[in-house]
Amino acid sequence: MRDTTRLTTAATAVDPSQISEIQYALSLTPRQLPAWLLYDDLGTALFEAICHLPWYGVTRVERQLLSRHAASIVEAAGRPTRLVELGAGSGDKLATFIDAGWPLRPPLVAELVDVSSGALQASRLRLAALEHVELKTWPLSYEPGLQEVARSADADRRTLVLFLGSNLGNFDPPDAELFLRQVRAVLGAGDALLIGTDLVKDARTLQLAYDDPLGVTAAFNRNLLVRLNRDLHANFDLARFVHEARWDAEASRVEMHLVSLARQDIRIPDAELAFSLEKGESIWTERSYKYEAPEVMRRLADAGFAPTAQWCDTAAGFALTLAHADD
Ligand code: AVI
Repeated sequence: MRDTTRLTTAATAVDPSQISEIQYALSLTPRQLPAWLLYDDLGTALFEAICHLPWYGVTRVERQLLSRHAASIVEAAGRPTRLVELGAGSGDKLATFIDAGWPLRPPLVAELVDVSSGALQASRLRLAALEHVELKTWPLSYEPGLQEVARSADADRRTLVLFLGSNLGNFDPPDAELFLRQVRAVLGAGDALLIGTDLVKDARTLQLAYDDPLGVTAAFNRNLLVRLNRDLHANFDLARFVHEARWDAEASRVEMHLVSLARQDIRIPDAELAFSLEKGESIWTERSYKYEAPEVMRRLADAGFAPTAQWCDTAAGFALTLAHADD
């Protein structure tokens, strides 16, 4: 259970070095904002809520696959004793996987990388019950997190990196390949990567998953403006923006947008920005690529991995793919 007493909407300040990224994204056509801005403490809590929505299947289906196939995954991965989860979130899926995959409870090391210290706090609580697991947490984004993971590698332990929740889908394809190569670079022979990816499904299902009738995903998206108002003293008027989810079948991605309901002048003083938005103009805040199962294998091979096995829920459209870092 998440420790809600520690949940705060207080500033998870934007790092000054990240301001240039915001400036660049907003200078693009169409204007964009980096998706990591979605994950302040409130955004992380809203994402947790999304994972419980009946219309968002990713988390539920992935947890079922992890639980059902844990023993075969552990076997196929060469019985690793060091687990690294990138973007750990609440730690719930990792706990499920460990419970089902190592019933004899041998000593394991688990290293969690997540940019949100709120999420790491929750995962620490969730994994505390597993006494055979030595836990390390890295409150970092992926790249510096991977450097720490490389530094703490132990030659006596085979490593399995988990990159779940279809987080890969939030990267454009070239960035996804770069990211997979970075993961590959910190692994040694015999180590492996388990990746969870959402698969292409019908447009209506995808639309509902990203624009749910309860409005939780809309709140998750709009909270990004709340954050910019709070952390960078921007003047976004929330009443003048609506959430929109768009399925682009050709690009195979769902896009989240914040659409301006009127012509308006935007100021973000702490990023030294001032610009106008036309009525109907949008700010693109997130991309979520959806894959075909064989394509995931191919992408892993392109990034220097040897794809080994895949476990799919074809009805729900989700795949877990295992790939080795062979020399
Ligand atoms: C974290 N990520 C994989 C989620 C996704 O599906 O792209 C974030 C999310 N955005 C809207 N709903 C969920």
